[in-house]
Amino acid sequence: MAYNLDTEVLYQGTTPQGIIKNPETPAIYPSSAYILDDMDDYLFADKGGRYYYNRTANPNRDELGAAISFLEKGEKTLICSSGMAAISTVLLSLLKSGDHIVMSKAIYGETIELAEWVLPGFGIEVTFADFTDLEAVKQAVKPNTKLFYTEIIANPLTLITDLEAVTAVARAHGVLTVVDSTFTTPFVYRPLEHGADIVLHSMTKYFGGHSDLTGGCITASAALIDKINPTFLLLGCCLDPVSAWMTLRSVKTMSMRVRAQNQNAILIAKALAADPHVKAVYHPSLPTHPHHELAERMFDTDYGYGAMLSFRLEDDHEKVAKFMKHLKLICYLGTLGGIRTTFTHPRTAFVNNFSAEELDKMGLAEGLVRISVGAEDSRDLIADLLQALAAMDA
Ligand SMILES: Cc1ncc(COP(=O)(O)O)c(C=O)c1O
Repeated sequence: MAYNLDTEVLYQGTTPQGIIKNPETPAIYPSSAYILDDMDDYLFADKGGRYYYNRTANPNRDELGAAISFLEKGEKTLICSSGMAAISTVLLSLLKSGDHIVMSKAIYGETIELAEWVLPGFGIEVTFADFTDLEAVKQAVKPNTKLFYTEIIANPLTLITDLEAVTAVARAHGVLTVVDSTFTTPFVYRPLEHGADIVLHSMTKYFGGHSDLTGGCITASAALIDKINPTFLLLGCCLDPVSAWMTLRSVKTMSMRVRAQNQNAILIAKALAADPHVKAVYHPSLPTHPHHELAERMFDTDYGYGAMLSFRLEDDHEKVAKFMKHLKLICYLGTLGGIRTTFTHPRTAFVNNFSAEELDKMGLAEGLVRISVGAEDSRDLIADLLQALAAMDA
């Protein structure tokens, strides 16, 4: 039967089924829905049925999830639209009114805001504790504590949480441990192998690695993911298929990027520590770092100690601004984990959210500069930093 032009055009340009076989790279499936053959096809993909609706399940998210489950040694992974989506999904799916959680106070600022501004509205109580002090964590536990939440390498002073010690406390109290392992990456440390129940990442950082996508992931046992998944579906914070495809592409070069970036961080930390303008360098590779030995014990140091480092200049706003202005290669940027080296000024990033006293208590001094080390030639990075330090005297 012949159709009219405007009908016919809607059915043009489709590749006949079965003609494409074994492409070297996976296809992108942006389709928001799939044509079903039979009534029984209307099943959830994870129940063994076919894909039928993008928010429910999508091949690109599933492919990426399988790769991340492999890297993190978990059973299942949910792929979310951002790191914050992953964090919100975990907390809102596992907690209910009347529950209490113990959260590290040295974590991503917006996770703290979520805990302070959003969770209380749902009747969830939060106690912040210093997770590098096991006694403080134990003291914070209450009869209604359901969850511990921490990062491994704390931002920006790079203090390290001894996860096995923390998860031993959690287990003794029947509490789940959730780890945001964004800074560490699964190459350096895999929290699920050390007692954590859930590991999550902002994939915007090292998984994506090129500062061109936003995403997050949650990895755990099948039982826990099956508990989280219904809320995940209802919150609707799934990653779009194109970004999932881009992230999987980036995951294939992630070990090379992370190794190069982490090795550069070691060399930069050493060079900065030797410069008289620098009062302190915070990177776990340095023997002077308070958690250097712990890092050696915990991390696969063949990959390094992470690519985030901070250093302290004189607490003089003008001088720090002068240093920043003189950097030629390294850019001022509000993200991290990209292939190019960037820096931030943590105090400025939080000056609107916290009082001066709170910022001091958090270690965010005026002179503190944080670098996300990239994969450039380390000699160029060190030369850029040293010339900008020297320019502070001019
Ligand atoms: C450690 C950490 N966790 C979570 C996030 C939030 O990730 P996103 O920006 O992808 O929501 C960030 C962002 O900087 C982060 O640094």
